[in-house]
This record gives sequence, structure tokens and C-alpha cells, in this order.
Amino acid sequence: MMDKDAAARRVKELSAELEYHNHRYYVLADPVISDREFDMLLKELEQLEARHPELADPNSPTQRVGGDLTRNFPTVAHRYPMLSLGNSYSREEVGEFVARVEKEIGTTVFVMELKYDGVAISLTYQDGRLLRGVTRGDGEKGEEITGNIRTVRAIPLVLRGSDVPALVELRGEVVFTRTRFEALNAQRLEAGEEPYANPRNTAAGTLKLQDPKEVARRGLDNFIYAVQGEVLPTRSHFENIRKAAEWGFKTPDPARRFVERATDLEGIMAFIDHWDKHRHGLEVDIDGVVIKVDSLDVQDELGLTAKSPRWAIAYKFAAEQATTRLNGVVYQVGRTGAITPVAELEPVLLAGTTVKRASLHNADQIAKLDLHIGDRVLVEKGGEIIPKIVGVQLSERPSDAAPVLFPHACPECATELVRLEGEAQHYCPNEHGCPPQITRRIEHFVGRKAMDIDGLGGETVEELFRAELLRNVADLYELRKEQLLQLGRGWGERSAQQVVDGVEASKQAPFERLLFALGIRHVGETVAKRIARAVGSMDRLASMTQEELTAIDVVGPVIAESIVDFFQAEGNRVIVERLRNHGLRMALDPSEVAEVGDRLKGLAFVVSGVFRNFSRESIKEAVERNGGKVSGSISSKTNYVLAGADMGPAKRTKAEQLGVPVIDEDEFMRMIEG
Ligand code: IVH
Repeated sequence: MMDKDAAARRVKELSAELEYHNHRYYVLADPVISDREFDMLLKELEQLEARHPELADPNSPTQRVGGDLTRNFPTVAHRYPMLSLGNSYSREEVGEFVARVEKEIGTTVFVMELKYDGVAISLTYQDGRLLRGVTRGDGEKGEEITGNIRTVRAIPLVLRGSDVPALVELRGEVVFTRTRFEALNAQRLEAGEEPYANPRNTAAGTLKLQDPKEVARRGLDNFIYAVQGEVLPTRSHFENIRKAAEWGFKTPDPARRFVERATDLEGIMAFIDHWDKHRHGLEVDIDGVVIKVDSLDVQDELGLTAKSPRWAIAYKFAAEQATTRLNGVVYQVGRTGAITPVAELEPVLLAGTTVKRASLHNADQIAKLDLHIGDRVLVEKGGEIIPKIVGVQLSERPSDAAPVLFPHACPECATELVRLEGEAQHYCPNEHGCPPQITRRIEHFVGRKAMDIDGLGGETVEELFRAELLRNVADLYELRKEQLLQLGRGWGERSAQQVVDGVEASKQAPFERLLFALGIRHVGETVAKRIARAVGSMDRLASMTQEELTAIDVVGPVIAESIVDFFQAEGNRVIVERLRNHGLRMALDPSEVAEVGDRLKGLAFVVSGVFRNFSRESIKEAVERNGGKVSGSISSKTNYVLAGADMGPAKRTKAEQLGVPVIDEDEFMRMIEG
């Protein structure tokens, strides 16, 4: 076993190296090693920390994936209050601000920055190490959410560079980039969940989650806009932010005009006008520009009012709004039965696109707006992808306008809707009888990421449903070519054959795809894959309790409950049985778990014990197919011992003595999956 000092040295070395690469990747967007190499270093560090618990450090790069659940967030007082900013909405108001400053102290330098539309955060570093992260709260005190903050890759855990004060506080905005936000919503839709409304609220909600692993998975980002402390590197705000960039933070890039300096109103307005025009092209949402006096000494001289500094002001862009007529409301029924009201609007131009529809989210929102058909409504495009209705012009309501009433029954199948306790959404519970639920489930099943059945799409599925050839996904496997040809119009020898062949070929789809294709609520593509690999077969999954399911690392209580419910329903069990009889894959096949690759190139493994998802032979094969070597006994040349249940204690001791990491089946799977 590596001696204590050697281990401590290696931990230090690896931590520094990993933080360096983290910074290259997440702050500079300029990585110098592959993800794979990064993972290998991280794995080594994880193993060292596991073997030497005394070396564990809350600011270790291993903590980026999220630590244990946070039971509660302690309230802590801010060393410097987190003030808000006075707002301005016009050139005149900005002019008044500039005039006020100049009257008091003469000509001075202003810094203009983007006003990020996210969540304010305060980060305190002591001796260059993250001590705590605190939300704004009421400005005087906030909630300590350090565990969640550590998962934000753009926030350094240990500062680099020179001039790092012994105690320093950085302020900034935690945000979701648009790309990340859209990816999150795509995953939610895939899992049959409601998409999030906008990046800002989602960022705020995410920071308050009790599960830091989930926070890590969502991928928050951060920009720094202030440095505070008793002793600072310079007396210029602009220069201090440059320093913060050297310490490893993500800060606005002057080269891209994300920050500029000016000495007069003209210069300030040029920056504002530029970003008012170009803001839609940015990676993150901004709602304005912040103008600050650059000199900290001048800032001190100007001082504060009750709530906000007199040395800074926000300029807020006008939200892009338009008024139009509400022609009607339609209620869409999703694959999981969720009812979504959608407003149909008289087409209107808004933020460069023609808008015909707006989301109304749920019944509460309709009631809150007191919407009537024929109303003139105010639509706004904020951070949301789909515009929303933010107001009604009551004075223009036609006298005979009828209120919009959320239906009690499903618009498609007339079943009485239900609303689950604590949820805003209404559902149609008629899972097996409601046409759009059935067809959308089948569409999902045949989709490209699921069973990928050629020749079948939304329209054909609906056609086959209307013709009573399809009632559920098992019926697909009983379709005959003659039945399709009898449908007449649009169906020929070729298209019918394509469907029949596509259905036949789909029987070979791997278990994990079938699991995803079943459309179990909350079980998206990634979750299905992980469950398939952890559980191994449909039978085992169907018999698992909620408790057993939550032991799988990607499965929380909500997913677990949804899986148990699915297999409890008689209808679902019948369908799964029929699929089994048609020869679909109901278990993991080791040969499809690992594709051929060179991920393990140059690595020597010793395999020992009994495995859950593999036979000993097939796990050895998996090592070899990925370029690794398998040897019989542990020596100093062994890189990993792959241990199943029942590995003898002698082997474990030997591995420890030689400093060879012992990994389990799940870790091995992660290595070959990458
Ligand atoms: S400076 C004392 N700069 O806007 C000055 N704030 O009302 C404190 N914000 O919640 C703020 N971008 O989180 C500053 N470049 C920026 C900003 C910014 C966004 C947020 C901040 C606060 C609000 C100010």
C-alpha cells in the first residue's frame, strides 16, 4: 500500500491537476485532455480518498459530483449586505444618474456590464479555498448552500494565481445557459414530464435542491460581477474582476464586449444599444445592463442609500411584449395523460417571430388571469421558449365574452380529470382508453430513440389506431401485411413491407431500449439505460420494491414509485408478456453492453468473485473487447482488481498492499461506457 505521505502528495497533485482541467473545460472552454483522461484522474483520486479517509477534503474535485443530502440550509449573515440596484428604463434616467455622479465628484470612469438574469450568490474564500456559498436571501442574511455550489463547475474550489486575499468574497449570478436549459427540458419531455418554464426560476429551484447530485447533473453555470473584501488587489472594480478571472472564475470577456468602460453618457448608451439589439444571440438570458463607477474610492465617497448603492444603476430592457386577441383555448393530452392548455392567438409579431400560440401551463394560471375568449391579451417573450400571456386588457373585453373554463372531463375521451395532491397539473386517468394517450405512447415506442421502427410515425400510428389495428404496443407485433394493404389509399406493397420488416427488426432491440420504449413515467433514455444495466432483466425489475429500486444510483423515490405502479397495473403486465412471447429482448445481453473499443487499452485487470450482470467469462470478454488484458493473479503490474461479490479477503489484502485499486461491477461499467 502506498505510504501515507506518498498518498497525501498524490492527492494534492491530482487535485491541482483536476482543478486545472476543470478550469480549462468549464471556464475557458478550451480543454487540453479528453473526458476519458479526466475521468481516469478523477477515479484515481476517488480511490485514494476512499482508502485514506483522513485525506478527504470538502473542496476536493471529487466533491463536484455532489455529496450527501442536505437536510436543511443554515441561515448565515452576510459580511457585506447584498444590495439591490436602482432601475432605469430610458436614456434620460441614465443621464440623470451620470449627472448626479458628476456633480458630486466630477468626471469619472464607468464600467458597463451585462445584467444576468439568474440568481445572486455570494462566495467566500479563506486562504484561497471555498469556505461557503450563500444565497442573497433578504440581503442581510441568506441560506448556506455550499454543497450545491461545489457542483457548479465554473466556480473554482481552490483559487489559483497571485494576489489572492486571505479572505475575499465574490458575488455573481448563477444561471443556466440556454443550451443546457433546453437539454434539460428535452430530457423532461422524453421522460413524460412537464418542461420547466424558464432558466431563471429553474436555476433558483435547482440551487435549493437537497440532493447535490441532482444539482450536479443539471449543470448550472456562473458569472462573477463583484469582488469584495477588506484588502483587494486594486482599487478599480474593472481590474479586480480581471483578477477574479486569473483566480479561475468565469468573468465577462472585454474582447466580446461583455464589459466596457466609458466616461460619458454617449459611451454608456452605445453599450446599452448594442446589447439591446444583440442580446438574443447570447448564451445566457440578460434583462439589462448594469452601470457602475469603476473606482472603489469614488464608490466609497458616493456611498449608499437605504437599499442600493449610489454608485451603480441598472438599465432594464423593455420586455418584448405585444397585444393580440385570444381566439380560443385548446387542451392537449400528453402521453402520460397530462392536460396542457394552449392559447390560440390572432398571429402577432413578437421578438422577431410570428406568435400564434402561447402556453397557459395549468388551470390556476387561467383562473389567475381571469381569461375570457375574445380578450385582448398581452403576450411576452422572456426567457421562455414559448411566449406566455401576462395580462388581459379588461377595458377591451367584449360584453358577451365567455370565461375560459378548465374542463372537468378529458376533451378526448370524456373521462373525469384528476388533479393529484400538490400538483398544478390535471391528468386524464383513462390510460388505456384515451385515444391520444394510446397513440402517443405507441408513437413513443416506435420512435427513433426507442424501438426505432422504420415506416411508422405519428400519422401512420393514428391511422392504424383508427382502423382498429393498433390498441397498444403489443399489437404492433401482430400486424399483417394484408391488413395494411387493405387500408387502401397511401399503402402499397413497399410501405407495408417496410412496416412489417421494421417491426420484425425491432425484436432485436436491446433490453435498455425496450425499457425506455415502454414509456414508464420519469424513465427517460439515460435512466432506462442505467436501470437496465443495474437490474439486468425485466423479470427482476418487475419484482423489485420501491426500496430496492432507490438503491440504483439514478433512481429516486419518484422514479421508483412510477416503476412499481407500472408493473402493478394488470394491463401493463399483459402487454409485457405479449412482447415477451413475440421474442423481444427481456434481459441484458453482455455482448451488447460493451461495444468494442480501446477504453481499457494498456490496462491489466484481475477478475474475481461473482457478478450481478455478467458471468465471469463474459466480464473477461468485456475487458478484452475494450482493449484491456486479464491476468490470473494480482501483482504490481495489475492496474485494477475487478471484484464481484464473494471475492476472498486474501485478494483484497494483496491488492491493498500493492496499492492496486479494487473496483466493482458498476465502476467497471462506467469505465467502459465513458
Ligand atoms: S451588481 C451593489 N452586477 O441584479 C450592486 N448585479 O439588483 C449589486 N445582477 O440580484 C449588484 N448582473 O444578482 C450587479 N453585472 C451585474 C449583475 C447584477 C445581474 C443581479 C444581481 C442582483 C440584481 C441587482
